[in-house]
Amino acid sequence: MTTLAKELPAPFTPARILRELDAHVVGQERAKKAVAVAAYSHQKRTRARAEGRPLTSRKSNILLIGPTGCGKTHIARTLARFLEVPFVIADATEYTEAGYYGKDVEVMIGELLLAADMDPELAQRGIVFIDEVDKIARRSHGAVTGAGNRDIGGEGVQQGLLKLLEGRKIFCPTNVTQHWSKHDFVPVDTTDILFICAGTFSDLHMYGNRSKRLGFTGKVGESGGPAITEKDLLRYGMLAEFLGRLPVQVRMEALTEDDLLAVLTLPRESVLHEFAELLRLDGVTLDWDESGLREIVAQAHRRETGARGMKAVLEEVMSEALFHGPELAGTTLRIDGAYVQAALAALTAPRTPRQ
Ligand SMILES: Nc1ncnc2c1ncn2[C@@H]1O[C@H](COP(=O)(O)OP(=O)(O)OP(=O)(O)O)[C@@H](O)[C@H]1O
Ligand SMILES: [Mg+2]
Repeated sequence: MTTLAKELPAPFTPARILRELDAHVVGQERAKKAVAVAAYSHQKRTRARAEGRPLTSRKSNILLIGPTGCGKTHIARTLARFLEVPFVIADATEYTEAGYYGKDVEVMIGELLLAADMDPELAQRGIVFIDEVDKIARRSHGAVTGAGNRDIGGEGVQQGLLKLLEGRKIFCPTNVTQHWSKHDFVPVDTTDILFICAGTFSDLHMYGNRSKRLGFTGKVGESGGPAITEKDLLRYGMLAEFLGRLPVQVRMEALTEDDLLAVLTLPRESVLHEFAELLRLDGVTLDWDESGLREIVAQAHRRETGARGMKAVLEEVMSEALFHGPELAGTTLRIDGAYVQAALAALTAPRTPRQ
């Protein structure tokens, strides 16, 4: 749970924010730096408004582009927790153009208000993370199939988001659990809300210049690999007005095996602790050997699902141990490379074939 700062704190410097991000987010140096600067501007803006001299400069909403499990959501969540501001994650695919069945984009602000304990002042300093924005690309000039209607919806959602990104007074219901009545709405101004949009744009290459290789999975150095240009995103189906309101655009890379190993052993949030804790309750001690961790990382890397996949691999590796925990009481379980391989092999050789 994020604690919310009721008072407006002194802004954290970009360097201080970066240090915090560094403690929780492996790699992604460019993204962390860009987010730190944008967050610093965000604090300056909210502070200036609180002091009655609002800034006129445009805000630094962010677009994060990177493959699944590389830390897009993680970076935003870490930032919001550190800044102690209200934070919501919205999935762009759940929203529809106003008037259609589905959530109206304004609901995002209602949810932010909820995360702000219904305090509009707090909500106005918050962060909204909008995931899967690549799924609301316009597809009108693409294949004309049954998906046509939905694609137009995508464009409509982008249109709807424009006013939020730009800054607009949204009237949010204050009594969500009861019947809405006209008198129970509170205005929330989105002008200073920081929006962080994210998407994988995994099939971007199909819409851009075909000679370009835009694969995220290959190891691309700081300077290597073609940059995703505004043109590529336009061709993909993002509206120019939408991109224009996301001036900070950062590409994130797939995590390397070394990155994944670092994620696994991050002191504060390693998923290894979760398994150790569960099994400790059974009286089982886990002894993680480096070869075991390397094997888990190699498996996850092959699946190309980033750090997200690592949790899945771990679940599989540990499933037998979790099952037999009670009988293993008093023992130490050494998880090395051989253990990991055996555990995974046992799963892929089921009695009844899967798929
Ligand atoms: N760079 C990273 N450093 C540390 N942990 C990470 C990193 N990337 C991912 N993780 C871990 O993996 C989990 C999943 O990552 P995250 O949700 O940020 O992926 P994502 O980039 O948003 O992917 P998707 O496109 O599938 O939403 C996070 O909760 C976090 O624990
Ligand atoms: Mg995500």
